[in-house]
Amino acid sequence: MKKSDPKTRRMAPLQTPTDLGAQASKDVSAALNLLLADAFALYLKTKNFHWHVSGPHFRDYHLLLDEQADQIYASTDPIAERVRKLGGTTLRSIGQISRLQRVDDNDADYVTPLDMLAELREDNQQMAARMREAHSVCDEHDDVATASLLENWIDEAEQRVWFLYEASRKGE
Ligand SMILES: [Fe+2]
Repeated sequence: MKKSDPKTRRMAPLQTPTDLGAQASKDVSAALNLLLADAFALYLKTKNFHWHVSGPHFRDYHLLLDEQADQIYASTDPIAERVRKLGGTTLRSIGQISRLQRVDDNDADYVTPLDMLAELREDNQQMAARMREAHSVCDEHDDVATASLLENWIDEAEQRVWFLYEASRKGE
């Protein structure tokens, strides 16, 4: 088959050269793609609550959730591009996100503001834990660059947990 043949082009591997090895590329890419699906799911859930929150703390919660959604969204492009730098392929569709995501959607008509904060706190805590697991995969393969990115995203997730916790505390 000729190179110009569309069939050949479709089958051509999208492999970028990496000296970390094929197994590292496979394992780290798989871990990152799961985190990417989680990030998109959590981004949309945070926006969902940003849009639907109500009550006396509306302005505070509305703005807090917007900041958090922005932070989560900002991580998605670097996660996907890290996968490509490792020679892997990344997500292609909303359908793929829904098949991979480990963050549960919340399509309820009404959620109380405190339930929103508690649910997001739990989701962000789980996300931090899953990023730590991905960090161990990076350590196994000496992938310090992905590990370093993950360390910042873990810190961000922990910051979101902190804010969600403090914002939901009852006044003393
Ligand atoms: Fe908005």
